[in-house]
Amino acid sequence: MDLNLKGRVAFITGGGQGVGRRIALQLAEEGCAVAVNDFFAERADAVVAEIRAAGGQGHAAPADITDKARIDAAIAGAVAALGPIDILVNNAGVTVERRSKGGMAPLFLETDADDWQKILALNVNGMLHCCHAVLPGMKERRWGKIVNIMSEAGRGGEARLAVYSGAKAAMLGFAKAIAQEHGRDCINVNTVALGAVSHEGIKAGPLSPEATPENNELLGRMLGAYPIAKGLKRLSRPEDVAPMVCLLASDRAAYITGQSIGISGGFYML
Ligand SMILES: NC(=O)c1ccc[n+]([C@@H]2O[C@H](COP(=O)([O-])OP(=O)(O)OC[C@H]3O[C@@H](n4cnc5c(N)ncnc54)[C@H](O)[C@@H]3O)[C@@H](O)[C@H]2O)c1
Repeated sequence: MDLNLKGRVAFITGGGQGVGRRIALQLAEEGCAVAVNDFFAERADAVVAEIRAAGGQGHAAPADITDKARIDAAIAGAVAALGPIDILVNNAGVTVERRSKGGMAPLFLETDADDWQKILALNVNGMLHCCHAVLPGMKERRWGKIVNIMSEAGRGGEARLAVYSGAKAAMLGFAKAIAQEHGRDCINVNTVALGAVSHEGIKAGPLSPEATPENNELLGRMLGAYPIAKGLKRLSRPEDVAPMVCLLASDRAAYITGQSIGISGGFYML
C-alpha cells in the first residue's frame, strides 16, 4: 500500500536513537523529507546521514525540546531547510530514573520535585512546545498529522513509574483535546502506546538487544507479561512501531483521530 507521503515534511523529536530513529528512517523511506531533532546533535547528524545515504532528504534539528526558544528556532530552521511541517511525531521522552540509576525505579514517595519537573518537562512541556509551533501552519494549509508516542504506563498506570505514567496520560488527554479543536482544520492527532521496546540505544539489562531469556532472568519474566511475546519470544522493537506511525501520518488514516493504539503485544487491552 502506497501511503502517499512523498513530498511531505516530517519533524520528529528525539529521533537520534531507538524508536525515534526508526520512525525517522521509515518516514524517509516513504518519501518524506525528515527533520531529525535530538538533544544530542551528533545523534541527529548520524540519523540524517543514514537518511541521505539511503537516497532520502534529511535535516538535523538538534535542540532541547524542554527549552521553548531553542525548539522554536530548531523548527524554524527545519521549515527553512525543508518546507512547512506536515507531520509532527512527539517521540522524545524517557523514564529518567530507571535508565539513569539502573535496577528498580523509585516509588513516588521516594522521588522529589526535581525528578517530577524533569519528567514533566520532557514528556509534557516538550510536546506542548512542538505542537504550538507547528499547528498554525498545519491549520493554514488544512493538512496536518500529529502522532504522540506514549506508553502503556499512561493508559494503565505503572507502579514505580508514577510521574512518568501521569505524564504519558497527559499526552493522551492533550492529543484528544487537540484532535477535537482541529478536526475542522483537517488535522489528525493520535497516540500510540508502547510496551517495553528493545533497541540499540539500550546497552544493558533486559531491554538491550543482546538480552535473551537464557542470559537475563528478568527478560524471561517480562516476556510473560506480553501475550504475543510468549509466541514470538521477544519484546517489541522499533520496527514494530514505525509502520503504524507512518500509517497514522498518512491520509490512509484520514478518518482516524483522537485515538490511542497499543503497540505492546497485548499488554493492555481496552
Ligand atoms: N523503550 C521503551 O521500552 C519504551 C516503552 C514505552 C514507551 N516508550 C516511549 O517511546 C519513546 C522513545 O523511547 P526510546 O526508548 O526510543 O527513547 P530513548 O531514550 O532511547 O531515545 C530518545 C531520544 O530522545 C532524546 N532526548 C532526550 N531528551 C531530549 C530533549 N530534552 N530534547 C530532545 N531530545 C531529547 C535522547 O537524546 C534520545 O536520543 C519515548 O517517548 C518513551 O517514553 C519507550
